[in-house]
Amino acid sequence: MNFQTDIFSQFDKKWALLTAGSKENFNSMTVSWGGLGTLWSKPVATVYVRTSRHTHVYMDENEYFTVSFYPESCRKALAVFGSKSGRDIDKMHYAGLTAKEAGESVTFAEAEVTFVCKKLFKQQLSLENMPAELRETFYGNDALHDMYIGEVVEILH
Ligand SMILES: Cc1cc2nc3c(=O)[nH]c(=O)nc-3n(C[C@H](O)[C@H](O)[C@H](O)COP(=O)(O)O)c2cc1C
Repeated sequence: MNFQTDIFSQFDKKWALLTAGSKENFNSMTVSWGGLGTLWSKPVATVYVRTSRHTHVYMDENEYFTVSFYPESCRKALAVFGSKSGRDIDKMHYAGLTAKEAGESVTFAEAEVTFVCKKLFKQQLSLENMPAELRETFYGNDALHDMYIGEVVEILH
């Protein structure tokens, strides 16, 4: 497995699509909070999903998820995935990306790179363990984030 990047801009500036489910029934959303690293001596990807997201249901129901990154030409599609909910519209067709299987999960043909991840761990970010400033800024009116850590089992280019 090989991947090189400026790790601090990879999520924050490029954004990514987080996808969970099967080719017949999946959901994707844009994420810009996340990380790539090491845990339990395994290569891992970490994402943070508010419990209010439709994708949250898919993250809980599936053993695998993918994190995929896109060229600048797909920015508009990522904006759709980040502003519409799969609960309300058929985002996959609306955004114009081409879904395809990726290991035990799903990604899109337009991706530059896809991390196929096997879920290892989930935990809710607890308000009492963060500074008051973050509590007020990010959780005043919004649902909490669940942190999901997945083992990166495959990197598709
Ligand atoms: C640039 C960008 C980054 C985002 N990052 C996250 C994130 O890291 N975690 C999260 O829960 N929501 C994030 N969102 C919001 C979700 O993508 C958005 O609410 C989406 O419509 C959820 O879709 P769903 O209901 O189909 O899951 C982000 C949105 C944008 C535009």
